[in-house]
Amino acid sequence: VVADTPRRPQDRSAEASAVARSCHLTSEERHLRTDGPAFHNEPDTDPSLPANRAWARRAVAAPPAVVTEPELTDPAAVDVVVERAAASTWRHQEPAERARLLREAARSLAAARTELLTTMVHEAGKTVTEADPEISESIDFAAYYADRALELPPQRFTPDRVVVVTPPWNFPAAIPLGGCLAALAAGAAVVIKPAPQVRACAEVGVAALHRAGIPADALQLVHTDEAAAGRRLITHPAVERVVLTGASETAALFRSWRPDLGLVAETSGKNALVITPAADPDLAVADLVRSAFGHAGQKCSAASLAILVGSMADPRSRVGTRFRRQLVDAVTTLRVGHGSDLATTMGPLVGELSPKLERALTTLDDGESWLVPPRRVGEALWTPGVRDGVAPGSWFHRTECFGPVLGLMTAGSLEEAVALQNATRFGLTGGLHSLDADEIARWSSAVEVGNAYVNRHITGAIVQRQSFGGWKGSVVGPGAKPGGPNYVAQFGSWGDPSELP
Ligand code: ALA
Repeated sequence: VVADTPRRPQDRSAEASAVARSCHLTSEERHLRTDGPAFHNEPDTDPSLPANRAWARRAVAAPPAVVTEPELTDPAAVDVVVERAAASTWRHQEPAERARLLREAARSLAAARTELLTTMVHEAGKTVTEADPEISESIDFAAYYADRALELPPQRFTPDRVVVVTPPWNFPAAIPLGGCLAALAAGAAVVIKPAPQVRACAEVGVAALHRAGIPADALQLVHTDEAAAGRRLITHPAVERVVLTGASETAALFRSWRPDLGLVAETSGKNALVITPAADPDLAVADLVRSAFGHAGQKCSAASLAILVGSMADPRSRVGTRFRRQLVDAVTTLRVGHGSDLATTMGPLVGELSPKLERALTTLDDGESWLVPPRRVGEALWTPGVRDGVAPGSWFHRTECFGPVLGLMTAGSLEEAVALQNATRFGLTGGLHSLDADEIARWSSAVEVGNAYVNRHITGAIVQRQSFGGWKGSVVGPGAKPGGPNYVAQFGSWGDPSELP
C-alpha cells in the first residue's frame, strides 16, 4: 500500500538553489542516499506563487519552432545506428563515472525545465500542471538511477549490449527518459524510438542528456516508420532488451517478431477506485476527478471506474446523494481547453480517436445512463463524461478506453467491490477511499494491482516512494518497477555467485 506524501512544491524563481540542494551532494552523502532516506525528490513548481505563474505563462506563450530529425525507413540505416551503439565503450565505464554522468543529467534536465514544459504543452497537449511534475520525475529518475548504478557488482553483472526504448506519447518526458536513464545506469547502450506524436519532446530530453556528457554513441535517438525499419530495430541481433510502455497488443507483436526478446513492458490497465461510506467524500471526489480526468484520462494509471459501496452506492441515501451531486459539480466545472491557457484543467485528446474511445464517448449499454454526458467542443476537445450503472462483466467494466470517461459501478459490500475491481485481466493501479482502518486492511490484502493507493489519487507515482508498475496482464517481463530499487538491475545478465573466484 502506497502512502501519500506530496512533493514539496518549489518557487521557480529560486530554481538554481533547489537544483543545487538536490544534486550537489558530496560522494559521501550520495552513498548514504542508496539507503533510501537521503534521496530527495525534485520539487514541482508551486503554481500558487505569482512568480511561477508568470514563468509558466511565458514558457507556453508561443509554440516552439519544431523541426524534428527525419524518419528512417530503410532497415540498413537502422543497422548502422544499432551497430554504433553495440560498439560504444559505455559498458566499460566505471559505475562511478556512469553515476556521475547521470547526476549531470539530472542537473541538465533541471536546467531544461522551461524548454521541456514549452514543448510538452504544445506538442503533447499537456497542461502545465500535468507537464511540470513529469519533468520533476525525469530529474528524479536520473538522480535515483545514478545511485542504483553504484550497487551493481561488476564481477557478477554484465550489462546488456543494446537496449531499445519504445515509449508512449502520453508521458513524453518521464517515460522515455526514465527508460533511457535506467538502461544507461546499468551500462547498456540505448537506442530510443520516440512515439511519433511526441518526437520533439524526446529530442529535447535526449539533447539535455547529451549536454550532460552522456556519449552520443551510447544514447541515440531514431525516428522510424512502424514497418520494416521499426521491425528491424526490435529484431536486430545486437538488441538484447526492449523497454515498452504501451498496449498489450504491441508487446504481443514484438514477441511474435522475436520470441527470445528480453522485454520489459508495462502494458494496459483498467483501474478502479473503491469508495465506501467511511470515505471523506470531499477528498474522494477530488481524488476521483483528478485520477479520471488528468491529461483527459489518457494515462495507463487513470481511474476508469469508481466502485461505490453500500449506502454510497444508493443514489437515494444521504451519502449517496451528496457524493453524486459533488461529483457532477466537480466534473462539469473542469475547464476544457488547450494547455497554453493556464486556466485549462483538462486538455485535448492526443492523436486519432480510437474505436474504443469513440464507443465509450458515444454509446451506452443496457442499464447505463449518463450522469454527465460528454460533448465534443472543438478539435480534439471533449468535455468529460460519467457513465452511471455500469454492469459487472459489461463492455465498459472490462475495456480500457484511454480517455475522459468514468464509469460508476455499485457493490453491496467491500468484498464485492474488490471482486469487481479484480475482475479484469489487468492489474495496474487501484485505490480505496475509506477512513476505516479495518476496511483499509481488508482491501489492501485483497486487491490485485501493482500500485495500490489509499485515500489518494491513483495516478502520479513518485520515484523511490511509489515505484510504478503492474501486476497480472499489466506487466510483461521480470516486473521490477521503474523508480524502484530493482529496475536498473534488469538491464543485464547476472553470473552465478558460486562461480566467483
Ligand atoms: N507513472 C505514471 C503514473 O503513475 C503513469 O501515473
